[in-house]
Amino acid sequence: MKNPKLPFQEGDPVIFLDRKQRVYYSVLQTGKQTNIRGDLLPHDTIIGCHEGFLLRSQRRVPFWVFRPTLNDHVVNMPRGATVIYPKDLGMILQYADIYPGAKVVEAGHGSGALATALLRAVGPDGQVISYDIRQDFINNAQKNLRNFLGETSNHLIRETNIYESFLDTDVDRLLLDLPEPWRVIPLAVPNLRPGAIVCSYSPTVIQVQSFCEALRQARCFVEVLTLETLLRRWNIDGLSVRPELRMIGHTGFLTFARRVEPPAMSAAMPELETAENTLEEESAIDESNEV
Ligand SMILES: C[S@@+](CC[C@H](N)C(=O)[O-])C[C@H]1O[C@@H](n2cnc3c(N)ncnc32)[C@H](O)[C@@H]1O
Repeated sequence: MKNPKLPFQEGDPVIFLDRKQRVYYSVLQTGKQTNIRGDLLPHDTIIGCHEGFLLRSQRRVPFWVFRPTLNDHVVNMPRGATVIYPKDLGMILQYADIYPGAKVVEAGHGSGALATALLRAVGPDGQVISYDIRQDFINNAQKNLRNFLGETSNHLIRETNIYESFLDTDVDRLLLDLPEPWRVIPLAVPNLRPGAIVCSYSPTVIQVQSFCEALRQARCFVEVLTLETLLRRWNIDGLSVRPELRMIGHTGFLTFARRVEPPAMSAAMPELETAENTLEEESAIDESNEV
């Protein structure tokens, strides 16, 4: 993993912050200059420096130079597929309880935003396994990961359709950002350890409903929780102390659940079984009443 305390090197991503707090992202290359509306910032003067210094363009316009935070990286890096935004990444790390040393499976890999956050959270003793069906997305995500984290020997990428093959066992955490996440549940169940947490990120509530139904049918998930996160920034400027006028209205819903052993669940919660049987009986009656 890259150490942010070291001086900048060729290939490192960099952030330029202007006087209006606008952020510009680039990747350092010997001989290259970043051009921000006519202000030229030569990379050769940055390589070898530590972050946090003030660089002036040839027109003496000042820019602060930083290493991107994970948030900066995720919203600025080149994208193949849509990324999971920082507000949702933060919730995933916390509610799916991503811990150092965990074995985590994620699908799809997309642009690598979630994988980057996961690799930082599991640390060198953990493992992240990423599934995707698109080789072009995998290539782009690998570049993004290498730029931000450096080499990561504990990251395994599988160019595999996860609806058809779930190749990993004894998984601690399963994170899904897919069009049809419910299709993964039957394959994943035998490979999730008891106590494992699954999380699905979906933009529409129809997907959430289908995912929750798959969890219910698997009969080995408890603590099912669906939430969304609304993040509103505030403007604090003299007497203008108020919420920002614009915000991101919607990204996606997050559903979390915890895997238990099926026999333990029916023994410990017979009322759940009874309730489910009653539901099934009711729907069977409804169906038989349909003309
Ligand atoms: C929205 S993107 C994931 C973005 C990613 N979570 C990130 O933060 O950058 C969805 C990805 O799922 C992949 N995908 C779709 N169906 C799949 C399947 N059946 N198996 C594996 N990956 C799949 C797509 O190729 C795409 O890259």
